[in-house]
Amino acid sequence: MELFNAAVVIVSSSCFSHTSEDRTGPVIADYLESRDWNTTIDIVDDDKAMIQELVRRLTADTATAPNLIVLSGGTGFTKKDVTPEAVKPLFDKEAPGIVHAMLSHSFGITPYAICSRPVAGVLNETLIVTIPGSPKGATENLDAIIDKLKHILNQLRVDSARELHKPSDHPSSEVKHSGHSHEHSHKHSHQHSHEHSHQHSHEHSHEHSHGVKLHLLSNALNGPVAQRARKSPYPMVSVLQALDYIDRFTPKPSVIKKKLTDDDITGYVLAQDVFARVNVPDFNASIVDGYAVIHSDCPGTFPVVSVSHAAPGETKRIQSGTVVRVTTGAPIPLGTTAVIPVEETEVDKETADGEEVEVKILAMNVVEGDNIRKLGSDISKGALALPKGSRISRLGGEMGLLVSIGVLEVEVYAKPVIGVLSTGDELVDLSQSSEVPLKYGQIYDTNRPLLSQLFQGYDYKVVDFGISHDTLGKLAETVESAFERVDYFITTGGVSMGETDLLKPFIERHLGGTIHFGRVAMKPGKPTTFATFPPDHKFANKAIFALPGNPASASVTSNLFVLPSLMKFSGIANTTRSTVDVILNQDAKLDPRPEYQRVHISRQGDKLVADSTGFQRSSCVGSIAGANGLLVLPSSKDVPSGKLLKGSRAQAIIIDIL
Ligand SMILES: *[C@@H]1O[C@H](CO)[C@@H](O)[C@H](O)[C@H]1NC(C)=O
Ligand SMILES: *[C@@H]1O[C@H](CO)[C@@H](O)[C@H](O)[C@H]1NC(C)=O
Ligand SMILES: *[C@@H]1O[C@H](CO)[C@@H](O)[C@H](O)[C@H]1NC(C)=O
Ligand SMILES: *[C@@H]1O[C@H](CO)[C@@H](O)[C@H](O)[C@H]1NC(C)=O
Repeated sequence: MELFNAAVVIVSSSCFSHTSEDRTGPVIADYLESRDWNTTIDIVDDDKAMIQELVRRLTADTATAPNLIVLSGGTGFTKKDVTPEAVKPLFDKEAPGIVHAMLSHSFGITPYAICSRPVAGVLNETLIVTIPGSPKGATENLDAIIDKLKHILNQLRVDSARELHKPSDHPSSEVKHSGHSHEHSHKHSHQHSHEHSHQHSHEHSHEHSHGVKLHLLSNALNGPVAQRARKSPYPMVSVLQALDYIDRFTPKPSVIKKKLTDDDITGYVLAQDVFARVNVPDFNASIVDGYAVIHSDCPGTFPVVSVSHAAPGETKRIQSGTVVRVTTGAPIPLGTTAVIPVEETEVDKETADGEEVEVKILAMNVVEGDNIRKLGSDISKGALALPKGSRISRLGGEMGLLVSIGVLEVEVYAKPVIGVLSTGDELVDLSQSSEVPLKYGQIYDTNRPLLSQLFQGYDYKVVDFGISHDTLGKLAETVESAFERVDYFITTGGVSMGETDLLKPFIERHLGGTIHFGRVAMKPGKPTTFATFPPDHKFANKAIFALPGNPASASVTSNLFVLPSLMKFSGIANTTRSTVDVILNQDAKLDPRPEYQRVHISRQGDKLVADSTGFQRSSCVGSIAGANGLLVLPSSKDVPSGKLLKGSRAQAIIIDIL
């Protein structure tokens, strides 16, 4: 059986209730696919120019154009409703019969059908129909016309029968088709053939339809840019593939100079090998409190000639047969070759006020260098002290080392500055409205505070771009100005519709970005999107992550994808997150997608045990609190029983201290 191709275009519009998510796209897709239509979904803002651009693009090449474009939404009477006005000027032919069928069917259901302004028509060989934005309205309208659509499409193809008749293209359909087209070739007017198709609508079931070329969207990401702009659906990539894209396309780190005294020094990665400017220690130093001696003099009783504390300045060379009292860390006098700890000596003679005059060295077998930290023995001047790629941690170790070797300024890789933006009309900024209770359907925007803290915890600077309730046009302005200040733009949720998919056409068409992946086979976090810009683009060294709106999804995908990218950008060579073997403390039911469950990992005896941190729904913020690991659960397809029992082993990614 041959398939017709349908492109479903969701037009964001005020017809959608603010709190609802875009359920219409998948509903229409299911509807069409269950009737053997091969279906893709695009989402577009309710903007006349954008709608037209999308429709033109979809139909520009007859070889890949869908047979049918169904635009859902924007057919009402509010100011934002412009879908009919956008598509009608594009029609080569109008199709009032389709409009009539939909309206009369709708009037049979509700008198409010009067609020709908559908249009239908033909552009090149593509039939275009507008339907309402609600799942119910959309399917009701499709019910009215679906049985006849393939007939109309067959007629459209008859107009280009010669092209379809190339025997090499569809040899098997050739025979069937010639009979069919023969019938139609006798029709001389559209009116006539239109009637004909209605009369025979029940005889011509889909096994008689044929000659349709399939366009392969699954190749889109590797294909030329023009094809990639078709964008939806994005091929589903595995988590490993997604990480590979991130590794390959994360913008290259850039080198800057930083002083160790700068406030934000933590987290920078050295872009140079750092060599010691001085010896450490820069003198022969005593390791103990005791007496600096000439080792070959010992044992014996010696006069104490002077005292050296850990104080700067020259010390005099001493004569054989004398000793010098020294403290830990102090330089030992020139000429001395060992230090004897106080415990291995006795005071032999002292002054009236208790000053020692002579000491008896009890130690036997004193060897040259005993208890001396030799000049340059920790690091010698000119030696490599810290290699390129070392990260200046918050623990102070690298800082201490650099200071000890006399280095104040270093070349480092710039750290990414991250802009975070939440999208969604239902979101309320708690910091702006703490006294105002939520209205029905509103929620506090959790993602910006959550992600800001996560990234700041890795010593990256975050710029808060608030909540976007805006149209895509406004969003474009926000991103343009944001990229003057930030390297990464991280959005959560969709715009207006609670659908990340809206951001994909936006990234590609408004911004000219390149989407490397737009769907990942994982739970939660499937719609995670990663985009960068071509080398000659003004944002060539910027990146965008569009993350799902649910807090758990946003948190998991930030840990899994965003952090490795940020690390790579900041010059860290190995961005693989560390994992540990854990024992499950509960049974885990497996999903067909690999799942990342938030867990608390703790030590029990010699084992690490993973406890689920609670309700693992992607909207459940509670499951992130207390989590220090992400349990990696395999796909149920790989485990015959479909579950892992308590006591099973699994891998967990460490996201916080254990
Ligand atoms: C119609 O098809 C022709 C030939 O395939 C193509 O050149 C043209 O761009 C199409 N027109 C529109 C408006 O899509
Ligand atoms: C839809 O088309 C794609 C290629 O574009 C093909 O791989 C897929 O099998 C088709 N879907 C169905 C349901 O046959
Ligand atoms: C440090 O000790 C070494 C070995 O004992 C010796 O050769 C060197 O002269 C000493 N240097 C100074 C500055 O005392
Ligand atoms: C990168 O880090 C991971 C996790 O810490 C480790 O398992 C892996 O061996 C490292 N790879 C290289 C090449 O060092």
